[in-house]
Amino acid sequence: MTDSTTKKRRSQHWFSGSSKDNFIHRSWMKSEGLPADSFDGRPVIGICNTWSELTPCNQHFRELAQRVKHGVLQAGGLAVEFPVSSLGETLMRPTAMLYRNLASMDVEEAIRAHPLDGVVLLAGCDKTTPATLMGAASVNLPTLLVSGGGMLNGNYRGQPIGSGTHVWKFSEAVNAGTMSVPQFLQAESCMSRSAGTCMTMGTASTMACIAEALGVALPENAAIPAVDSRRYELAQRAGRHIVDLVQRDVRLSHILTREAFENAIRVCGAIGGSSNAVVHLIAIAGRMGVPLTLDDWDALGRDIPTIVNLMPSGKYLMEDFYYAGGLPVVLQRLLQAGKLHGQTMTVNGQTMAANVAQAECFNNDVIRPLDQALVQQGGLAVLRGNLAPQGAVLKPSAATASLLQHTGRAVVFENIEHYKTRIQDPDLDIDASCVMVLKNCGPKGYPGMAEVGNMGLPPKLLQQGVTDMVRISDARMSGTAFGTVVLHVAPEAAAGGPLALVQDGDTITLDIETRSLHLHVTDEELALRRSHWQAPAEPTSGYLQLYHRHVLQADQGADLDFLVGCRGDAVPRESH
Ligand code: FES
Repeated sequence: MTDSTTKKRRSQHWFSGSSKDNFIHRSWMKSEGLPADSFDGRPVIGICNTWSELTPCNQHFRELAQRVKHGVLQAGGLAVEFPVSSLGETLMRPTAMLYRNLASMDVEEAIRAHPLDGVVLLAGCDKTTPATLMGAASVNLPTLLVSGGGMLNGNYRGQPIGSGTHVWKFSEAVNAGTMSVPQFLQAESCMSRSAGTCMTMGTASTMACIAEALGVALPENAAIPAVDSRRYELAQRAGRHIVDLVQRDVRLSHILTREAFENAIRVCGAIGGSSNAVVHLIAIAGRMGVPLTLDDWDALGRDIPTIVNLMPSGKYLMEDFYYAGGLPVVLQRLLQAGKLHGQTMTVNGQTMAANVAQAECFNNDVIRPLDQALVQQGGLAVLRGNLAPQGAVLKPSAATASLLQHTGRAVVFENIEHYKTRIQDPDLDIDASCVMVLKNCGPKGYPGMAEVGNMGLPPKLLQQGVTDMVRISDARMSGTAFGTVVLHVAPEAAAGGPLALVQDGDTITLDIETRSLHLHVTDEELALRRSHWQAPAEPTSGYLQLYHRHVLQADQGADLDFLVGCRGDAVPRESH
């Protein structure tokens, strides 16, 4: 942090002076109705908005932006809203993850190219939080993130239902013959009742909690519902705080420290957070230049109990979490147990410990005391072995305990199309003890590393009452999903990882206790199979080709290799 009174503000390189360029910069902005004193040296705050009607979760962001603007104006700043790519999880094909890095480039370059002194990121739907944080981290201006908040609790026939989680449950019920198709369709409007993100502890909620745990969002940011007036009040306060951050020149790098990332990993375990957080947090840290590895996830999360009782691991939803006290209670409980760094700085100028000192819990079943945890070891497990030399992850809190040490016969699907046709075959040679293996769904293979790792079970086994089986893939899994699912196997099959060599009938052992994933095939046999393996063809042009050539494996955050690192806020040329 520096004394900004001795330094010309960044925006003044555009707006201060009497040159031709200064004329141009001010004159066109005045066409928006801005008075001359808008350019008198006050902090210029960019509101980076991921609003889009194609991203229903972020549909309320223009109103949210207005509240941020009010806060900026109240604090004496000038607020300018600008759009960036929005990534809606439900509509984008093949998967929004294919475009996370592209959106982060948009965010980075938009921030750097404009006369901004600080930035408020408006993010909600799954990929918008990591994409905006990754882009902002590569510029490193004073930055604050406001999440969109969760949608209202789902309710179907008097029962709470959770985004995503109940899509999987209902879909399996239809396959098992216990739910009719008209009932299934009726549930659509019962699930998504308002603006806001999935109200389970899916990836959006997880990333909102992680933003608060990192200190880049204000206290209570994670859980206030999207349509609650307190969300708008928080947005207004965010506008005031970002002006303060600019005045004190508190950069994102002062907030996103190694200790902050360690806190975020521990919080992810405590909330039963999405496995997608692994990929996103490693990518954000990579942009900030903070070393963070898969092994950090295992080591830091191993002794963290899951205390937030939300779907898919538990039974409540985000509204309940907020009414119970929200993330400050979780942070307070972890701090009191000595499991967090309390002195990390946050965007309201207070330490983490100071922010949560007065937190109060109003429902100990929604946010459990540590000694009544849902799962004692709630952190994500990182597995290694000859099937995943660079690692794979599993979310124990969403898995079946009896399957966490399991040996079974592999039933292999070469890609998602092969899975879709083969899984329906009534003659498929498979039983509940088998291990389902899905290939070519990793960063390069799908492309974009789709959320297909929690592949549905064979209908004939569902009809027998089977509810879970060990599944292994190089794909991701929706944070709203559940099951004994090994994900993010690296290297992926399409990059020539050992996963590509698995065949029907091979034996595989999963052992969470020893964190191992072993394919019982000799090295000689694997070498023979490798000699017959052919890499999939590379896309021939466009973004897909750029992505395919440069995407890193899951254990490195699946960022593009040339985007890793912080490039700062200096523009290549200062004038026209
Ligand atoms: Fe947007 Fe779940 S689809 S948060």
